[in-house]
Amino acid sequence: MKTLVEFIWEQQEHFGNATGEFSRLLNDIGIAGKIVNRDVNRAGLSNILGNEGTVNVQGETQKKLDVIANNEFIKALRNGRQCAAIISEENEDVVVFDGAIGQNAKYIVALDPLDGSSNIEVNVPIGTIFAIYRRKQIGQRVTLDEILGGGIDLVCGGYIIYGSSTMMVYTTGEGVNGFTYDPTCGIFILSHENMKINELGNIYSINEANYIYFAEGVKEYIKYCQEDDPATNRPYTTRYIGSLISDFHRNMLRGGIYIYPGTKKNPHGKLRLMYECIPVAFMAEQAGGKASDGFRRILDIPIQDIHQRTPLFIGSKKMVEKAESFMREFSPEFEKLNP
Ligand code: AHG
Ligand code: MN
Ligand code: MN
Repeated sequence: MKTLVEFIWEQQEHFGNATGEFSRLLNDIGIAGKIVNRDVNRAGLSNILGNEGTVNVQGETQKKLDVIANNEFIKALRNGRQCAAIISEENEDVVVFDGAIGQNAKYIVALDPLDGSSNIEVNVPIGTIFAIYRRKQIGQRVTLDEILGGGIDLVCGGYIIYGSSTMMVYTTGEGVNGFTYDPTCGIFILSHENMKINELGNIYSINEANYIYFAEGVKEYIKYCQEDDPATNRPYTTRYIGSLISDFHRNMLRGGIYIYPGTKKNPHGKLRLMYECIPVAFMAEQAGGKASDGFRRILDIPIQDIHQRTPLFIGSKKMVEKAESFMREFSPEFEKLNP
């Protein structure tokens, strides 16, 4: 039996000359995850369901739990002192910590504190998504220019899923590992070592209610998924939970593709690059899968805005490649609509 804490420290020893700062940061994320897990589990009893009465920078109604989760993560990361600044779905601007931490800490965390918040009231899995970036230079207070000017490198992508069990799954570029939370002793335990996503699955996840707005390439790919061809396991089956992290987690374990495409009206789609798409893209690639905007790697998209959106095609490698081939053939004009 190996705990998350043991695993993090072992990894640190393995890669040598580490100072322990990154390990502490990851631990802090695990601690915040436990607190949010408690809040999510007891939400119906604690009068924290429903709307906060505010909207976030994306113009979306904030749920009480969106705000609570955001505060818990910010608090844990501020106390931990390893993170100089936070980029969050729930904060319009970069949250830079005061004093020496905002200048000298090596890391910046990008966060979707609660993903799938429309599912909170109905007891469907939700999650927290995070990306950790290392600053190339420290010593001065974090600025937006530092972030958008290429001053940071991605070093970790992960999520915590609050589902039928709670799990933390992350990669630091050396494979993907999953830890299941044991609520009786309050620890995450390594349960899914070196996760790999099947090259080809038979699940496709997309909000088909938006069908009429989809690009021809997406429509053609959906038709392809629905064709009868036993040799390739088609027709596939549809699963769409409506929280990216739950759909992605299932596809990690079972194989499959998740698509949130751009449309003519919203060419960039809905999902946010820095704290939704990049972390899952890093994990998908580390698990042998693929993540694309329909034309190019998610991890190659330049960051121009902290709340930038991008279309997302992610999951089993062969399925994503097939969807990309339909985009190239039927909707090449969409390539120019994203940077
Ligand atoms: P969030 O709750 O953080 O705003 O994210 C919701 C996202 C994503 O998790 C999910 O897959 C997608 O929105 C669902 O959108 P639709 O309802 O448009 O399908
Ligand atoms: Mn989200
Ligand atoms: Mn969210």
